[in-house]
Amino acid sequence: MVYLLEGKKVGIAITGSFCTFKNILKEIEILVEDEKADVYTIFSEMSKNTDTRFGRSDEFFAKVKEITGHEPITTIVGAEPIGPNPFLDVLAIFPCTGNTMAKLANGITDTPVLMAAKAHLRNEKPLVISISTNDALGMNMKNIGELMNVKNIFFVPFGQDNHLKKPNSMIAKTELIVPVLEAALEKRQYQPVIMGEK
Ligand SMILES: Cc1cc2nc3c(=O)[nH]c(=O)nc-3n(C[C@H](O)[C@H](O)[C@H](O)COP(=O)(O)O)c2cc1C
Repeated sequence: MVYLLEGKKVGIAITGSFCTFKNILKEIEILVEDEKADVYTIFSEMSKNTDTRFGRSDEFFAKVKEITGHEPITTIVGAEPIGPNPFLDVLAIFPCTGNTMAKLANGITDTPVLMAAKAHLRNEKPLVISISTNDALGMNMKNIGELMNVKNIFFVPFGQDNHLKKPNSMIAKTELIVPVLEAALEKRQYQPVIMGEK
């Protein structure tokens, strides 16, 4: 078995799609323990500081830190060095909120995650986006289209998650993060991008 991510420095930038945190944690564990990747995390202020019905922020933060063995980046100042010291091989916004996606598509850099993305893209390194948003087929559709057309940006395949109750909602297949990262390292988009309802 060849582990393509072994020893690779993988950035996982976490934004405030709290319902996906359980799955995200599972995949971070797989990246570290099974794939032997060296994982560095970046938190948006929202994902770092917000307790929700999906869990407590301090507990989630502590678990991520423990699994990766690195202190997460939680400030814009902390994320900025990713530009001049390009240490990440690949960065994934995992999960990516509609909010962060809209800002990224419009060149806004006001959170640690967006600073990391901007710094990383400046070095022409691959950036992966794992969407999770109720307005993917609404207000954010144009931003998805915009970002799909940007060099060095790749998507985790996504589909609708409940067309009856949330007709504009789309969510990425987080369980595909390993092959998507492997493809992104080769500057390839994993296919197919659009998948059936989750
Ligand atoms: C309980 C809860 C769940 C949320 N889930 C999502 C989500 O799945 N997708 C999304 O785009 N926004 C979601 N949001 C809204 C974002 O957290 C909000 O837009 C926030 O400003 C995102 O900031 P960030 O992108 O900097 O992390 C949720 C908010 C709360 C309180």
